[in-house]
Amino acid sequence: MEIYSVPEIAKDVFWVGAKDWNRRMFDALVPLPQGTSYNAYLVKGEEKTALIDTVNPGFEEEFKEKINLVSSLEKLDYLIMNHAEPDHASAICYIMDRAPGSVLVTTERGVKMASIYNDLPEGRIKVVANGDTIDLGGKTLRFIEAPWLHWPETMFTYLPEDKVLFPCDFFGAHTAQGVYDEDLEDLIPLAKRYYGEIMMPFGKMGTKALEKIKDLDIAVLAPSHGPIYKNPQRIIEPYAKWTAGETENKALIVYVSMWGSTKLMVRTIAETLLKEGVDVRVYDLEVADTGDVARELVDSRAIILGTPTVLAGMHPLALYGTYLVKALNPPAKYGVILGSFGWGGGALKQAGDILVPSKMEVVGTLQVKGKPREEDLKRVEEIGLELARKMKA
Ligand code: FEO
Repeated sequence: MEIYSVPEIAKDVFWVGAKDWNRRMFDALVPLPQGTSYNAYLVKGEEKTALIDTVNPGFEEEFKEKINLVSSLEKLDYLIMNHAEPDHASAICYIMDRAPGSVLVTTERGVKMASIYNDLPEGRIKVVANGDTIDLGGKTLRFIEAPWLHWPETMFTYLPEDKVLFPCDFFGAHTAQGVYDEDLEDLIPLAKRYYGEIMMPFGKMGTKALEKIKDLDIAVLAPSHGPIYKNPQRIIEPYAKWTAGETENKALIVYVSMWGSTKLMVRTIAETLLKEGVDVRVYDLEVADTGDVARELVDSRAIILGTPTVLAGMHPLALYGTYLVKALNPPAKYGVILGSFGWGGGALKQAGDILVPSKMEVVGTLQVKGKPREEDLKRVEEIGLELARKMKA
């Protein structure tokens, strides 16, 4: 009995990837509440067959069986590599060993990156550049170099006859659920979370990539993680905003509190901002899912950090959070740092040193000794009012 499903996403174009339902972390960094998928696609022309990307280590046998359900792996002509990260490229040698006539197709940068992780078969590589095509017979594969999304070598592949774009990680979402975008009502928040975690540091390159594909006729958008879009504008429109760094009238508060003092300060500023009509999202870093925080970073106009002092510096969870925020390069324009200490401060200075220089304007900072008194909370409120004024302006 055949157990695998290989949806035909366009005529003679099949999804042959793998679903990793129970994976819970990616890169030992990104939480995956719904697992993920490693999407790979088989394109059958009248004369030649091409495979677009491969799968994560551990899924090779399943991958082979799926390919053989709709074609013959042994007779594969081309393996297109859009991206060299091992979740899509680690099965290159596995596939090419079993398809002796196959040729690896990728960019010059792709060869360099893939060679770091794989012993590529000599004499079986075709280097392509932006605009190059391969004719499969009735189906053409056109290559679009879209570097730094999120590795140096990333490339898109376009199939004009069927109007299918394969953009690899770009437009992806970490979820094993669904086949098509219409299967998931909550897909865009998941895609936004993925964008914040993976693509946000490369927003400018994302804008360039969108410019490159703006005149393409796209009926199906087939990324390498998550569902396939039959409604491409559902994700292209938000990506246009996210890559442009458009922010909402929203403040993201991330904090750690040991004895409630920092918590009282962040609560005071949250209430002040709410009264001023600012959308507020609050995450306690002791329990927060960092993917949720990354999602909020995508369009928050302000970031408020709250941290107590521990051993003359920031609380380690706040230090980790601050480092991550800086690395993800969010578009927030304004920042506030609040904190408390018992017998010696230091957290505020350390937070400031990490965040500055950054493009964020620090609207206010306050560090209190022990429990915040009435006058301290009054000062927090003043900072909140000033922040709300700037955010609205
Ligand atoms: Fe899904 Fe960058 O690999």
